[in-house]
Amino acid sequence: MTGGTRNLSSERLGSGSFPRQVAAGGSPGALGSAAVLRRWGRAADGRQAGPPAGGQAAHDTDDPRRAELEAAAATVADWFHSLDLGHGVVTPGVKSAELLATELASLRLPDLRGRTVLDIGAWDGFYSFEAERRGAARVVALDHYAWSLDLAAVHGYNERCRAEGVPPAPWETVPDVWRPDALPGRRGFDLARAALGSAVEPVVADFMATDPADIGQFDVSLFLGVLYHLMDPFDALRRLRRVTREVAVIETAVLVLVGLADRPLWDFFPEDQLNGDPSNWWAPNVAGLVGACRAAGFSSVEVIAQPPDDLPPWQVFHGRAVVHAHC
Ligand SMILES: C[S@@+](CC[C@H](N)C(=O)[O-])C[C@H]1O[C@@H](n2cnc3c(N)ncnc32)[C@H](O)[C@@H]1O
Repeated sequence: MTGGTRNLSSERLGSGSFPRQVAAGGSPGALGSAAVLRRWGRAADGRQAGPPAGGQAAHDTDDPRRAELEAAAATVADWFHSLDLGHGVVTPGVKSAELLATELASLRLPDLRGRTVLDIGAWDGFYSFEAERRGAARVVALDHYAWSLDLAAVHGYNERCRAEGVPPAPWETVPDVWRPDALPGRRGFDLARAALGSAVEPVVADFMATDPADIGQFDVSLFLGVLYHLMDPFDALRRLRRVTREVAVIETAVLVLVGLADRPLWDFFPEDQLNGDPSNWWAPNVAGLVGACRAAGFSSVEVIAQPPDDLPPWQVFHGRAVVHAHC
């Protein structure tokens, strides 16, 4: 069973191999601080990332706690999520507060009061903290890849590659960049957790290399922005079914092929064809996503959000969709 701890240490689950599915070996065009992070986020997947939200909130310049929080937040190399830490401090995430608010609304989360929640691929923890805020009885934030990266070293490494004119190797193969021993990429999560006085439990685990029985079952699973990064998405959905007791909220990139909407399809990207990001492997159409969830063992699948289909027929588009997969 899992059981992350409440003292900022984490339980490690699973072993081993660091999947290429999340290995973002960068292309020269993806170099640079914000660009590196966008490779991970929905901005990399075709959405507009808003400007950093830090400093937007009203604040009291005499508040010593605010200065303390600002100084602590500044020690994090890169924030993925814009998190409101209180005292007027909002972290400058690649995903702006506005974008996160829109995303959150699009998920139509079920009532989380008293529920146990597993947030797979939590990164800085925006959705974990939100689940807690909504009254979840227990929240586990599971991640390993982003947490194992030293993002400052990622930038330096990518700059060096650019200067040498060579494409960066997958980051988990670069010793100074890949630090699963120290988890430098978890600093943002840890800092926010402490600032918020949160009881969210961090669990370091590769979801694809961990026995679902060791993760345990949760009433609600969040699988947001993760599916398309996985080389074996069907196995991922089967794992997701095993760790979910009631409903899995899945947000992912999807294919839109007007004229073939009823046919379950999965678009495969052998290189960086989806938004120039080589860590993106698959985008199903909505029928393909629903069909795969059913085949993976979910009893019914509710489509919550999907791209418009008033597009020219027989042309390939990609967008985002949200489904609730019920057990
Ligand atoms: C695009 S980010 C999404 C972050 C967050 N869920 C959101 O929607 O804002 C993808 C996240 O999935 C995590 N991830 C990718 N593959 C994973 C795996 N095999 N096991 C656990 N986490 C994984 C990455 O480390 C990263 O934090």
